[in-house]
Amino acid sequence: MKNISRQQFLQSTAMAGTAMLLSSLKGFAETLQQKKIKMGVIGCGSVSTQYLPHLSKSPYVELVSACDIIPERAKLQAEKYRIPNHYAHIDQLLAGPKFDMMVTLTDMQEHGRLNKQALMAGRHVWSEKPMANTYKEGKALLDLAKEKKLRIWGAPAVVNSPQFAFMAKAIREGKLGRVSSAHAQYGHLGPTWSAFFYEKGGGSLPDLGVYNLATLTGLLGPAKSVMAMTTIVTPERTVDNKGKIKVEAEDNTMVLMDHGNGVISHVQCGFNYFDPYGHEGKGQEKQTITIWGTHGNMGLVGYDWAPFGVDLATHDHEKVQRFVPDPGTYVWQEGASVIAESLIKGIEPLIAAEHALHVLEIIEAARESGNSGKKIKLESDFKWPLI
Ligand SMILES: NC(=O)c1ccc[n+]([C@@H]2O[C@H](COP(=O)([O-])OP(=O)(O)OC[C@H]3O[C@@H](n4cnc5c(N)ncnc54)[C@H](O)[C@@H]3O)[C@@H](O)[C@H]2O)c1
Repeated sequence: MKNISRQQFLQSTAMAGTAMLLSSLKGFAETLQQKKIKMGVIGCGSVSTQYLPHLSKSPYVELVSACDIIPERAKLQAEKYRIPNHYAHIDQLLAGPKFDMMVTLTDMQEHGRLNKQALMAGRHVWSEKPMANTYKEGKALLDLAKEKKLRIWGAPAVVNSPQFAFMAKAIREGKLGRVSSAHAQYGHLGPTWSAFFYEKGGGSLPDLGVYNLATLTGLLGPAKSVMAMTTIVTPERTVDNKGKIKVEAEDNTMVLMDHGNGVISHVQCGFNYFDPYGHEGKGQEKQTITIWGTHGNMGLVGYDWAPFGVDLATHDHEKVQRFVPDPGTYVWQEGASVIAESLIKGIEPLIAAEHALHVLEIIEAARESGNSGKKIKLESDFKWPLI
């Protein structure tokens, strides 16, 4: 995060026109008078077991309410993390004790409608990916947030890692010469607990590819167009919450992105990748992202959501050197905590709704290209370079 004064922040957001107009910052400014951001968490499943420990340790967060349509889950997490209120429905959550920000951790297909309801009720939103089911729905959410003088942000938080910062700086400083190509990959054998990952609106792209898409667009700039192939390798699965199900969303995808100026990148993701390092990626010492240029190449070691370092070989130093072996405080589940800190301190975070929306448009375009075999032009953009 870049440290700027509150006044600079207010000016820059108004000037950039990306966040909100100065005159519309009332709610935000009120929030800044507080010492903690009051939060309501919706969705108390698997990912909440990663978010809640992080949020509960943040000095900038007060957990007010938990909610899940499976009431025992909300009750259990509320007890475990000393959250005073728990509910079984978003209507009850929003009608309960006031909070500033809703943290959305439900099934992906529910995000758009729940995020909209929270904005309508005057709450800022941090959403797990994707922010909405379609780019159009996501763009409407951002417009609604602006109209309501609120903010919305979406996962992933990969741009926060010191390895991302190192790579962005190396590219900007020309260490790789003229950048030409990049490749990124992420896959495992697929979640076993919930059906939504395999139902319409799910798939390996919004669950896994989303990280690499955010990293590569963050490093190389917004994509202008996309081509993709998508397939289903395992047509039937057995999951904990629904038993045997038919897989409707892609579980095997290759995406090509054109970033302009001749730069092309490739992302592959899937739910049929045997990975000896498991879901956690512990011990993964290989590069999962590589960027090539005319003077050097650079690889991110480990996954972008849990990186271990950056390997760099250049014209001037052909022997590969390892940089940034330590992730510092960065963890992938930090998104909502970092946003709370940003709101309290008046710092504009690196994570931007426009970037998350751009990635959502890529995901939608990849599905469309996979179905039609055509190259799909993109319309969205975000403020770049990030660092
Ligand atoms: N599990 C992970 O490791 C992980 C990691 C990163 C991101 N994510 C993302 O987090 C989100 C949730 O994934 P998960 O693995 O925790 O799924 P999950 O199935 O374990 O949890 C989702 C929870 O949301 C609840 N829910 C669904 N609809 C709801 C509604 N309308 N109102 C309230 N509660 C509702 C479900 O009952 C369930 O408890 C997804 O977007 C996923 O891509 C998951």
